[in-house]
Amino acid sequence: IRHFEASNDLSGTTALVTAGPTQEAIDPVRYIGNHSSGKMGVAIAENMAKRGAKVNLVLGPSQEKNHHPNITTIHVTSAQEMYEAALQAHPDAKINVFAAAVADYAPANPAKEKIKKSSNDLSISLKKNIDIAATLGENKSNEQYHVGFALETDKEEENALAKLKKKNFDFIVLNSMKDEGAGFKHDTNKITIYHKSGKQETSPLLSKTDIAALIVNTIVKDL
Ligand code: CTP
Ligand code: CA
Repeated sequence: IRHFEASNDLSGTTALVTAGPTQEAIDPVRYIGNHSSGKMGVAIAENMAKRGAKVNLVLGPSQEKNHHPNITTIHVTSAQEMYEAALQAHPDAKINVFAAAVADYAPANPAKEKIKKSSNDLSISLKKNIDIAATLGENKSNEQYHVGFALETDKEEENALAKLKKKNFDFIVLNSMKDEGAGFKHDTNKITIYHKSGKQETSPLLSKTDIAALIVNTIVKDL
């Protein structure tokens, strides 16, 4: 895997990567969020940058740091902000990797002031966020390559294949939940890649850096 990174097989290529969680404001001090670390998306951005690609990384709130000169990081907070940044970068991006854990819903009317505790229970009404991958998938040209991710707890293959089709991905990466050490918060991952051609391949348990290299190798082979 590693010797591929030394080569400049992506020089002259522009890429877009969405990564990290999003945070959806409830009021000025609270939000709805998720446990995504942003590690996988940042590792993919770094791998492509090392191979010579110019990468726009649209990153939700994350502790992950990257210093590669080929990466321009656009920091965003909400799904709507992530969409607007991705929409701007998409027309120039040959490779598009949708690695973000985008919140599916946001508070419909975030409070302007901090919500005070009262003697009653509280309900917050939520509205659906825009689907970034699906929306950009509708505007995908023949020259553009789209990669998505899925994490499922049930009917893994069926759900992953439905997303592959619905969002117009070239392939989708299913993160295994079944293996110890895989998924959220871990430094290792085990994946299955489902191609739109019907081909599929499963990896062993690898570090996120090696998974990133494997995913980018799969893109490069297909370009
Ligand atoms: N995705 C996105 N914008 C959203 C939701 C998801 O771009 N608003 C992208 C993710 O980055 C990922 C893929 O779509 O590449 C699948 O995300 P996932 O949350 O698994 O799919 P959903 O369509 O939201 O379905 P569900 O959460 O109900 O399983
Ligand atoms: Ca979702």
